[in-house]
Formats: sequence, C-alpha cells, structure tokens
Amino acid sequence: MSENTRNNTTSSHAASQGVGTEQTTSSADESRNDANRGGEARQKGASILIENVTKRYGGGKKPAVDQLTLEIPAGQIIMFVGPSGCGKTTTLKMINRLIEPTEGRLILGDEDVTKINGDKLRRKIGYVIQAGGLLPHMTVASNIGLVPKMLGWDKKRIAERVDELLDLVSLDADTYRNRYPRELSGGQQQRVGVARALAADPPVLLMDEPFGAVDPITRQRLQDELINIQSELHKTIVCVTHDFDEAVKLGDWIAVFDEGARIVQYDTPERILANPANEFVENFIGSGAGLKQLGLARVGDVDLISGVLGHPGQSARELVGHIDKTGYNSAVIVDDRERPIQWLSKEQLSRMTTVPSHLDKELPLVGTRSTLNDALDTMLVASTGEAVVEGARGRYRGIITVETVMNAITELRRYTPGDYTPVGNNTGEIPVTVQRTNSEASGDAEGTAGAESQDADASVAGDTTSSADPTGRAAGREPWNESGDRS
Ligand SMILES: Nc1ncnc2c1ncn2[C@@H]1O[C@H](COP(=O)(O)OP(=O)(O)OP(=O)(O)O)[C@@H](O)[C@H]1O
Ligand SMILES: [Mg+2]
Repeated sequence: MSENTRNNTTSSHAASQGVGTEQTTSSADESRNDANRGGEARQKGASILIENVTKRYGGGKKPAVDQLTLEIPAGQIIMFVGPSGCGKTTTLKMINRLIEPTEGRLILGDEDVTKINGDKLRRKIGYVIQAGGLLPHMTVASNIGLVPKMLGWDKKRIAERVDELLDLVSLDADTYRNRYPRELSGGQQQRVGVARALAADPPVLLMDEPFGAVDPITRQRLQDELINIQSELHKTIVCVTHDFDEAVKLGDWIAVFDEGARIVQYDTPERILANPANEFVENFIGSGAGLKQLGLARVGDVDLISGVLGHPGQSARELVGHIDKTGYNSAVIVDDRERPIQWLSKEQLSRMTTVPSHLDKELPLVGTRSTLNDALDTMLVASTGEAVVEGARGRYRGIITVETVMNAITELRRYTPGDYTPVGNNTGEIPVTVQRTNSEASGDAEGTAGAESQDADASVAGDTTSSADPTGRAAGREPWNESGDRS
C-alpha cells in the first residue's frame, strides 16, 4: 500500500474531519428551510461537550457516571466501549437528556442545552437502539415519518423524505414503505431505525449497540452502510458497542470506559491499538492488535488483481483458452450488469460445455467499503484464500488475496498518526478553555416544539439550528489539517 493509499484508508474515518468549522447555512432560519429537502444543504454534525457531568441514580452513593468531561468533535464518529454496567448507556442518554444529569453541563454546538426543553433538544438528536426500536403498529413509512409529522411537514414532503431515506439505507421504497416492522428481518428493521433517526436531519445521532442483534454478515453490511451514509452526511455520531472490532472499524475516536464512566483511554483507533494505555485496555482489545488494524483499512484502498472475466452462455473451452493466455487459473463470471455470479477454476470449466448463468450463493464476495479484516474473514472461509470484490451497484472490481492483506499489515504498522486528542477525563477539568462563539438565535423558532412528549426510547430528531462554531473545539489546538488527515 502506498502512502497515498493510507491517506485514502483514513478518509472514510476522517471523511468529515474539519467539517466542524464549516456550516451549510448562514442563519438558523435558512438552515430550517433548507434542511430536509431533496438532498441539498443537509445539516452537518455539531460538536458536543459533556462538561463535568455526574449521574447518581436514586440518590445512590456510587455514581453511574462520575464527573465526566468529554469533548466530541463535530462530524465524527465516537465509539463508547467498556464493561457491562460501566455507564455507557447512561452517558449516551444524558446527551439527549432522556436521562437527566445530576450535576454538570451539556453543550451542543455552542449552546448550553442542560436546561432547555428536553423534547425540543431531542429533535436535534437522532436516536437509534437495538432492533431499531420501531413502533410495531405503524408501517415503515409512518415510523420514519414520525418526527417530520410532529414538526408539521405536509404529506407530500414526508412521503418524499421517506423514500429518500429508504434509498439511503438501501431498502427499495416500493417494496418496504407499507410493511410493518414484523414483516422485516432484523437487519431491515435496523436500517429503518437509522432512517427514522435521520428523518428530520439532526446534526447528532446517538446509537446504543445498534448492530448487536443481527448476524455477523448483516452486521458487517450495516456497518459498511453507516460508513457510506456518514461520508455523505457528516453527522456527529456517538455509538455504544460491545465489539472492539466494530469500534475500530467505525470510530474516528474510541472512548474506553471503566466503571463510573471513568475514561481509561480516549483516542483514535490507530493509537489505541498501537499504544493501549494499560492492561485494562489491552484486555479490551483482546489478542491480535496487529490484525485488528486491518479494521482500519478498506478493500477499495489496496491493489486488486484484475482477473479474467467470463459470461454466461459462453463456450467453456473458449474461456479456458483465454485463461491459459493470461496466466491465471480461474475466471469470474459476470452477468449482463457486470455483477459477479460465479468463480470457476480451469478444472471446473474443463468439465463444462457452456458457462452457467446461475448465481453461486457461496461466492466469496466483499465490497470495496469492506475492511481488510472482513475481507480476510471471507477469504479464510472460502477455500481459495481469495475473494471477489464488488463495487458500486454490485459491479465487479477485481480479486483480493491474502497476500495483499499481509502487505497491508506491514504498511499499517508504519503509520504514525498526529497528536491531537479531544478532551476526555473524570477530573472535571478542561485543560484549555473551550472556545464558544455567540450563536445566532439558537433554535427557538419552531412552533411545534414540545407539543408532544416522546416515548423514552423513540427516535426524536429535528430542529436544524446551526451554530457559528460547531466544533466547540479547544482554543489553541490544531485538531485536523484541511485534508482531514489526522497527522
Ligand atoms: N434507572 C436506573 N436506576 C438505577 N440504577 C441504574 C439505572 N440505569 C442504570 N443503572 C445503573 O447504572 C450503572 C450504569 O448503567 P448503564 O446502563 O449506563 O451501563 P452500560 O455501560 O450501558 O452497560 P451495558 O453494557 O450492560 O449496556 C449500572 O450499574 C446500572 O445498574
Ligand atoms: Mg448499555
């Protein structure tokens, strides 16, 4: 992998880095008008500052969250990991105040939201839980349109937005919009949950173990989709997970917590893997930190082998002749839309007269957005030690081999990231004063605010107030350069 490749590798992670200083709109009103319309002027992420926050349940002595100060940069994905009961969910739910902090402050963008109306706050914050948390008696379309409806959008606009979001989460709108949640698979429910959380285009998305309830293959796809969506939308996403590999794959930053939401380490996946703060973090990472770094690199970033292509109905002998000329020993069969359907060795082809047209369900297939880790999994399961790579719309892109992946490991070890980290501690200290500029009137305009109170676990999102400096970033530090690299 070249130097350049490594930059590309970080780009999905870092796609949004630096967006914090730029806003899509110049005033709160404009923002409200523009957001939620056919793909233009979408609301990007806002920074979050959890400032010296403590949560004590029922007057308990031991706090569930103990004087936590955490700076969450705008437009990035922050992963929370830590043992069960350490306070991840409590911390997450305090961000949208589904749980009220006992002490401390919450700053969203440049607005202190500790005391504002909770329903109103939750319209700026999408919320996704396991299995999507969909309302069972409502159709997919009604579930997704919930918040827009509350915000008083007209029917046509809601319907358009529903279809647009279904497309975004890779569900065919005609097939799925009128179904009920029970008529969907777990992965599909999860997708609808994400669509619902994004419906009113909130700058912040909170996710609590969103992919915990689906099988590994579906989880991998959903993760890839989230990365795709994020590269388009640049939201600020805070996501709880039990799976360290998931944290490495999705996170721009990982916060490793111990009991009482005490921060043990808060850093980039690269740096945590290369330099775990202590044994606790090492145990969390588990064995094979080197291999886990493969979760940082994507299939589309490495050199692929072009391979030989064949087509259904073609003479098998002719194809074998073609393979012989190229020095390969197999051919990938693609359909009329260039999507791989079979992968046949010379031996297999020599027993055939014409190339078959059916889809081989066992075909080892990975996407360009898959991580090298996922690719390695797929290859090891396939007896070939290689996998076919598909790109946009399932089109054939090439073949990836175990050797390519091994070379990538060597390259990844050479990578030394920069030294900016957001603030994260339990001492109640912010080392450098966090700069907050005055915002324009902070979103007091929408008339439907607080009209209905929310089901505690429902996804609520909405108002699209912008802020002048949504990074809320500490003054005097240089978090990212313009290209979005971490170095
Ligand atoms: N409503 C509540 N009343 C009292 N204690 C609670 C309540 N909710 C959570 N707790 C306690 O607060 C602590 C943190 O809980 P939290 O749900 O935040 O943990 P978590 O890190 O999300 O755990 P898990 O990984 O198991 O989901 C736990 O000790 C839990 O028992
Ligand atoms: Mg939890």
